[in-house]
Amino acid sequence: MNPVDTNGQSAPGIDRLFRANIRAMEGYTPGEQPQEGGFIKLNTNENPYPPSPRVVEAIEGAVRRGLQKYPDPLATAFRVAAGRVLGFDPDWILAGNGSDDILTICTRAFVGSGHCIRYPYPSYLLYGVLGKLQEARIEEIAFQPDWTLSEEFVRPREDLRLCYLPNPNSPSGTAIPLATIESMAERLSCPLVVDEAYADFAESNCLEAVRRNKRILVSRTLSKSYASAGLRFGYLVAHPDIIRQLRKVKDSYNCDALSIAGATAAIEDQAWRRENREKILATRRRLAEGLGQLGFAVVNSQANFVWCTHPARPAADLFAELKKRKILVRYMVYPRWGDGLRITVGTDAEIDTLLSETRRLV
Ligand SMILES: Cc1ncc(COP(=O)(O)O)c(C=O)c1O
Repeated sequence: MNPVDTNGQSAPGIDRLFRANIRAMEGYTPGEQPQEGGFIKLNTNENPYPPSPRVVEAIEGAVRRGLQKYPDPLATAFRVAAGRVLGFDPDWILAGNGSDDILTICTRAFVGSGHCIRYPYPSYLLYGVLGKLQEARIEEIAFQPDWTLSEEFVRPREDLRLCYLPNPNSPSGTAIPLATIESMAERLSCPLVVDEAYADFAESNCLEAVRRNKRILVSRTLSKSYASAGLRFGYLVAHPDIIRQLRKVKDSYNCDALSIAGATAAIEDQAWRRENREKILATRRRLAEGLGQLGFAVVNSQANFVWCTHPARPAADLFAELKKRKILVRYMVYPRWGDGLRITVGTDAEIDTLLSETRRLV
């Protein structure tokens, strides 16, 4: 019997075949990716510019070489190139199918049933989903009003197995200084994964701390600062003793031949990354100032997006009105905390349109 009826609903009894934690949990809902064109898309923190032309050339070269063979399971070409750029030996680097894959590997490796996973709130919603897949206990530590973390984040807990710290954080765009992170890691008994998806837009990062403390792991992505979200490539920098264990957990061929070629070319083109960073930072300033002039409270961002609320206009209304005008921003509502708009830094022209349309709405 076909288990799916014509309405796409599960047939009776199918749900009970799933583990109880899967039945009970909500899956992660990614930001909207409209399939029809015409949107100014400022909702999922993509880079508005095309990647380095060397990325496209490298992918074309990989296609010409043929796809009939499996890719290198360890993405060696990328790890060698990244190691050279970042100043690490390649055995300190693990490649992944986007940094979501890296986070999945870490969670599966460190966290089992009944263990605890801790992360700040509000932050990246995927951490909780990954924890629930492992039947873990979830501990969300609320950010203080100034987006710092209290001592609660390092409170000892026997079942604690993994802490995530997105830095800069999403949705706030705020960052915790390196010295604070190192001191927190010293006091934690479990690994601390610093999720640096947005670190290339920040004033500092945690890479050097990885050398000083084996329990600090840094996760990075090519989706944002290398403008390659469609490629799906991320990586982890951690002590080789950590990487060796994590390799057992990853899928055999977690990165495909095209993404390895593209990502290697991307990380080799640091001149492109630096130039792109300067453009994004200049437009971020313009976006934050423009929103401020329209009466928004804008959090000081170190990422490629800003978090804002308006004292008079509910964020949900602004989101809906902008969407009608084909401008897509991210409306985020966090239970027990509040809501707001997270707006990605687009091109100057996109941000000018966003600001002029928003001016009519507030
Ligand atoms: C904090 C954070 N970490 C990780 C990711 C995942 O990035 P990717 O899987 O594209 O590398 C995102 C995506 O938006 C993010 O906001």
